[in-house]
Amino acid sequence: MAAGISREVAAMTKTGTTKVWKTASSEETIAVGRELAALLKPPQMILLRGGMGAGKTTLMKGMAEALGAAEAEEVTSPTFTLVHEYEGEQEGAKVRLFHLDVYRLEQERQLETLGWEELRAADSLVLVEWGDKFPVLAQQADGEIEIEPLEGDGRKVTLRMKAEAKSS
Ligand SMILES: Nc1ncnc2c1ncn2[C@@H]1O[C@H](COP(=O)(O)OP(=O)(O)OP(=O)(O)O)[C@@H](O)[C@H]1O
Ligand SMILES: [Mg+2]
Repeated sequence: MAAGISREVAAMTKTGTTKVWKTASSEETIAVGRELAALLKPPQMILLRGGMGAGKTTLMKGMAEALGAAEAEEVTSPTFTLVHEYEGEQEGAKVRLFHLDVYRLEQERQLETLGWEELRAADSLVLVEWGDKFPVLAQQADGEIEIEPLEGDGRKVTLRMKAEAKSS
């Protein structure tokens, strides 16, 4: 995608746009992740929604790859460490990509031990698996990416950006 077009679409996503993709394989979902990396701009925090094995971590592979932050194979689930940090670049500017999985967190206050507030920096893109279970994350999120199963290996990926500026 040309940089000019991606900037245009990025501007659209700030005003509450929804964008939908359908994929038929994990490779195609990784490709959607690459597109998403061009649409999102720091500082943003996005919830990654979808059941177990939906493809949330798979999507992150494409995002990290497109930002030059990691190879797809290097991106794994932050199941035990809860957060993985990658350093990438977008249009010449440094981007810190944080991939969180809060499935194992039981209480909202445990987010503090994760250093949650420190992650929210000007150059940060924060993607949170299972973030919708904590109201503070749902409220602060700039949008969400939902992955739903279709028949076979099919997936529907929906990006929904919030319409109004949220308070953080
Ligand atoms: N179209 C598809 N998109 C994404 N993943 C797919 C697709 N088809 C099959 N898969 C497979 O589904 C699995 C998705 O696993 P992944 O770890 O990405 O899910 P997840 O949503 O992060 O789950 P969890 O909540 O357990 O962390 C992988 O094994 C992947 O190869
Ligand atoms: Mg996962």
